[in-house]
Amino acid sequence: LAALVSALACAPADQPPPSAGPSTAEARTVSDARAGAPGIGDADFPRDGNGGYDVAHYAIAVDYTPATKRLEGVTTIEAAATQALSSFNLDLSGFEVSKVTVDGAPAGFSRQGQELTVRPARAIGDDARFTVEVAYAGVPAPVQDADNLGVYGFIPTADGAFVAAEPDGAKTWFPANDHPADKATFDFAITVPAGVTALANGELTGRPATANGRTTWRWRERRQMVTYLATATLGRFELREGRSGAGTPVIAAVDPAFKKSLDHVYETSGEVTDYWATVFGPYPFDSTGGVVDDYAAGYALENQTKPMYGGFDPDETIIAHELAHQWFGNSLSIRRWQDLWLNEGFATYAEWLWAEHKGKGTAEASFAQNLARPADDPMWAYPPGRAKPNDLFNQSVYTRGAMTLHALRKAVGDKTFFALLRTWTAEHRYGHVTTDQFVALAERMSGKDLGPLFDAWLFQPRRPS
Ligand code: ARG
Ligand code: ZN
Repeated sequence: LAALVSALACAPADQPPPSAGPSTAEARTVSDARAGAPGIGDADFPRDGNGGYDVAHYAIAVDYTPATKRLEGVTTIEAAATQALSSFNLDLSGFEVSKVTVDGAPAGFSRQGQELTVRPARAIGDDARFTVEVAYAGVPAPVQDADNLGVYGFIPTADGAFVAAEPDGAKTWFPANDHPADKATFDFAITVPAGVTALANGELTGRPATANGRTTWRWRERRQMVTYLATATLGRFELREGRSGAGTPVIAAVDPAFKKSLDHVYETSGEVTDYWATVFGPYPFDSTGGVVDDYAAGYALENQTKPMYGGFDPDETIIAHELAHQWFGNSLSIRRWQDLWLNEGFATYAEWLWAEHKGKGTAEASFAQNLARPADDPMWAYPPGRAKPNDLFNQSVYTRGAMTLHALRKAVGDKTFFALLRTWTAEHRYGHVTTDQFVALAERMSGKDLGPLFDAWLFQPRRPS
């Protein structure tokens, strides 16, 4: 059927025959149509994301039953073509796909590994907006990467699921352009047995509705978000909702096993969000909070508006880290994984700033303590400005990344440094960033040549002198 559909698409009645040549821009772009690339162009993760289009919005409707671990999903994607497309790929891991439509018309599709290739009945013109709907079902399986990234994605738990997907585990629960270079807004409709709570990014768009023993929870994240931050964390949860001192809505949720953490997560998340807004600039999203699940891995992730803490009672240091990511990583997102220090170095430096704010230490002391590591400490051999795909979350990306910021702070002075942080978050709010852009802004605002400093801290495989 797929072959027949695409053969028909080659000669639609309303276009001139090929020999006549294209007579309009529309005909020209469609006759130029070719397959979108199976990767977005990140050489470190060549199959992640896809080429030829940019997603504007995901509407994810999933129905999940913890007892059977079965997920039934319909994901609707609104996208714009960046070339004329005869076919394009989505990333999806596992599941049986039962139907794909493009602009309402059945489309051909095929699977190869984590690539879902879609062949629309008619080619899509360059710049055209189009809607893809994918229906799929099965038992989700998280990514399991024993020697580097661990277990991530949609992780079934006893009472639901823990969904934390950095770097590329969104594909374990919805078809996606699964790379941070493509941000989009999200709507979620999550249906679960009554009594199960479904927590996604952003805010509820209405009261959860129960019919026939199943409840649908609808959440919306209206600000652009990268795919790895999307969550649909499910289970039994105790909730506390309200507002921070500065007025930002706060939603905290804890598994009953962490009932004693609820007030602490709620209060600290509000306090940290408000404080970071005074240091980094206005909070970028419409709500803040945190989720503690009983998934026992000691794992945390900065899911947009709702950081996740897996299997432990988060202290204020890690809450400060995950909420700093709402600016660094979530509002300002990397285009390439090699720039990960722009997320983790900044969030780690935020931990040091939090200690300084609380009178429990200074950033200078944290810097000095790490600088005292011996010359053969593995951190000095790993340049944090170029995160390695086979060792992405190396300690250097965090700690030496944070040290880079402290070295910068000492070189330009506190006044310029903190103005730089606020200008950085303001200029790239809801957008993408690169290391080169940060270096250029630091040089512009300080009036100094900072090339040698950044080179020594970010790019040399040795301890800076
Ligand atoms: N961004 C997270 C944090 O530092 C770490 C995510 C690690 N991901 C992984 N698959 N191990 O808070
Ligand atoms: Zn982090």
